[in-house]
Amino acid sequence: SPAPLVDQFQRRISYLRLSVTDRCDLRCSYCMPERMTFLPRKDVLSLEELHDLALGFIARGITKIRLTGGEPLVRRDMIELVRALGRKIGDGLEELTLTTNGTRLAEFAEDLFAAGMRRINVSLDTLDRETFTRLSRRDSLPQVLEGLAAAKAAGLKVKLNTVALKGVNEQEIPDIVAWAHGQGFDATLIEVMPLGEVEEDRIDHYLPLVAVQEDLARRWTMTPSDHRTGGPARYWDVAETGGRLGLITPLTNNFCEGCNRIRVTATGQLYACLGGNERVDLRAALRSEDPEVQLSEALDTAMRIKPERHHFAIDKPGAAPALARHMSMTGG
Ligand code: GTP
Ligand code: 5AD
Ligand code: SF4
Repeated sequence: SPAPLVDQFQRRISYLRLSVTDRCDLRCSYCMPERMTFLPRKDVLSLEELHDLALGFIARGITKIRLTGGEPLVRRDMIELVRALGRKIGDGLEELTLTTNGTRLAEFAEDLFAAGMRRINVSLDTLDRETFTRLSRRDSLPQVLEGLAAAKAAGLKVKLNTVALKGVNEQEIPDIVAWAHGQGFDATLIEVMPLGEVEEDRIDHYLPLVAVQEDLARRWTMTPSDHRTGGPARYWDVAETGGRLGLITPLTNNFCEGCNRIRVTATGQLYACLGGNERVDLRAALRSEDPEVQLSEALDTAMRIKPERHHFAIDKPGAAPALARHMSMTGG
């Protein structure tokens, strides 16, 4: 069988983050501007192409696929892809999962579970409706909360993703974590990353998680957990809440040494690193005379160009972001 994917730093790549659309029904201000330019629909891969692509990755030893966006559940045929890939669970694929903003989860939670999904990550930066509306520029908190309830009822394990933002949700962080744990959800906090032009200076809201962690450790008994999901979070057990708290610290505590992932945009561009521009065009490979061979060769190229690490630093006031590409292109 074909060789597994190993980069030049001897990192085994087993985790694919596959974006199915760059579109989103929210406009979180740290992520994109209100008037975001989306990819032309004609450039986006078809359902069949996404499926073939995923099979090509599984053939090269990818065992975990996370579907991302934009917001993956705004793509109409998304659930069909989940069903098709769900059939690969136990046959090469170990985990099929999703990162969603939750607005359409109430509609899809049962279907996701039925297709074989067991765990999802839901982005939620605040439990306050006004703050939610200000931050995401849409009044959708009630739908997200309904979505979370539906996910829980459907039997999906949930991890909440909260981007820590000074002056936005900073004061609320302990409450969000405690609420998540009360619901039986894992919680993770994320440092804001300099991807793509937005209307604000990200530095104004940047919150290094080292400081947040010290604050939480004064409040709670936190012990390092050996829980691993194959993602970048490092987890702590919180004695008082009985839950798990993950920290994703690209800026204050680099985790690239253990990198096991790559990401592909909805148009089939493989980005070898979230923090770089190194990429390979998989759509060209897919549409070539010999897609299987071309795709496999493109993946070998990706392994040669994958950088050792990102060099994110928070942008200086008024400066362009470190990367022009928005997070919504690669789904993180
Ligand atoms: P699991 O560990 O499987 O639960 O998921 P995950 O944390 O890998 O995925 P999720 O989509 O929930 O991502 C959470 C945050 O981590 C997002 O802000 C991502 O952009 C960020 N993230 C995921 N992978 C990477 C990475 O390789 N590098 C960096 N810098 N950030 C990442
Ligand atoms: N920095 C950090 N996280 C971001 N997200 C979107 N844009 C950024 C950014 N610039 C988060 C979303 C979601 C996850 C997929 O990425 O809030 O939780
Ligand atoms: Fe891997 Fe790049 Fe993310 Fe670092 S920033 S963990 S190297 S994808």
